[in-house]
Amino acid sequence: MTVTIVGSQLGDEGKGALVDRWGGDADVVVRYQGGDNAGHTVVEGGEEYKLSLVPSGAVRGTIGVLGNGCVVNPRTLFTEIDGLRDRGLDPDVRIARRAHVIFPYHRVLDGIEEEGKSDDDSGVEVGTTGRGIGPTYEDKAGRRGIRVGDLLDPDVLRERLEYVVPHKRRVAEAVYGLDVAESDHADAFDVEALYEEFVEVGERLADDEMTINCSDFLYRRRTAGDRILFEGAQGTSIDIDHGNYPFVTSSNPTAGGAAVGSGTGVTTVGAGEVVGIVKAYLSRVGAGPLPTELDGDDDEAALADEIREKGGEFGTVTGRPRRIGWLDLPMLRHASRVSGFTGIAINHVDVLADLPELQVCVEYELDGERLDTVPTTTQRWARCEPVYREFDTWSMGDWTETEYDTLPESARSYVEFVAEEVDAAVYAVGVGPDREETIELANPFEDAAD
Ligand code: GDP
Ligand code: IMO
Ligand code: MG
Repeated sequence: MTVTIVGSQLGDEGKGALVDRWGGDADVVVRYQGGDNAGHTVVEGGEEYKLSLVPSGAVRGTIGVLGNGCVVNPRTLFTEIDGLRDRGLDPDVRIARRAHVIFPYHRVLDGIEEEGKSDDDSGVEVGTTGRGIGPTYEDKAGRRGIRVGDLLDPDVLRERLEYVVPHKRRVAEAVYGLDVAESDHADAFDVEALYEEFVEVGERLADDEMTINCSDFLYRRRTAGDRILFEGAQGTSIDIDHGNYPFVTSSNPTAGGAAVGSGTGVTTVGAGEVVGIVKAYLSRVGAGPLPTELDGDDDEAALADEIREKGGEFGTVTGRPRRIGWLDLPMLRHASRVSGFTGIAINHVDVLADLPELQVCVEYELDGERLDTVPTTTQRWARCEPVYREFDTWSMGDWTETEYDTLPESARSYVEFVAEEVDAAVYAVGVGPDREETIELANPFEDAAD
């Protein structure tokens, strides 16, 4: 069977913690989209791991797969694997030969495009992670990308580089005015330098037997009885189709992405569990509207600061302070409908303890109308006024290894209200970052209705 973990909001909902929690019950953990823009945190017995590409089951020793829907930066991947080995783990990572490779020129182009957008003050800057994600997916869709499988054949690699690099160089020079030869980025646009580095990457991938036919690999594992956990990165509101375009990433974090991004049938993914990971409030790194953002008067700013500090809301990848808002139910209803959640996990319930006030946006008001879900255009979404319902707060106790029933009643009411609104069961409640601080109500591998 399969369990698919999906971010319900804007990323950083604590997906890594739940993948770790249930990764021990899985045989294979599969990332199906995104790349090293992700930063997934796992905390085990006080030991913290920040994972960008290695699937979060690694801390449990579960095999990790990067599916064909991912974009892979081999430098980051090898650095991460080596770093984890230094810390005593032994990550077993397999990479789809159909996954696309992030090359150094993709990162350069990501940086200069964002810079250009911020210069002309047009408000179109996305605030990307700068990892080259957008430019790599652009090349994939433009049919000029280079796939992991291409790195295994030096002749194919050279041919692909000779086609694509001059193209990228012309874009950098003619569109963005970069003097490539005189810049710090000359090697990023140099066929020979790239060929040398990436032939070696291919050799390591081959020597370590890391590449797979992802669809076939997962089919064989599954039919042999293995349990597959799909680990979404990012979140629904930054999905390229279902998020607030253009302030989105360039892939599909929503549950359909698990099928396409791994070569697994939709019937298989759909027959399994789909668990939406919910942060008990909102955080956002990067630009774009956020109707419930706490950015008004000094009181709101103070509340945002308190939540940011208590929740450690600083980007895992870039270190940027995250923007903070109240929980937004229209956003969650949209997420649940797009992915078909069978269950949810609500994290960061501890962070809301002892706040001077607690609000949840239950609907939006727009042009005199009430909306229960997110409008399709970002311009309309930006004009939505949240309609709030106030909740009682609760006190922070020592919640390590707490049972759900012993949580304060007001915390349980909050959790149950959210679950009812999105019409999904509560599978877990996060009351702290550590594995022991996730209260499990149901294990999707064990307790799911067949
Ligand atoms: P991901 O990208 O969805 O995996 O989330 P991140 O790892 O980027 O951000 C979540 C942060 O919150 C990490 O620092 C986690 O260790 C932490 N975290 C996860 N669940 C909880 C929780 O229930 N309470 C608190 N206080 N922190 C949590
Ligand atoms: P995890 O998996 C939060 C945001 C960036 C930016 C937009 C596009 O840790 O939840 P990109 O580099 O993908 O082109 O940036 O998406 N973003 C994330 N925000 N969590 C993430 O991943 C994110 N990955 C990308 O900040 O606004
Ligand atoms: Mg993250």
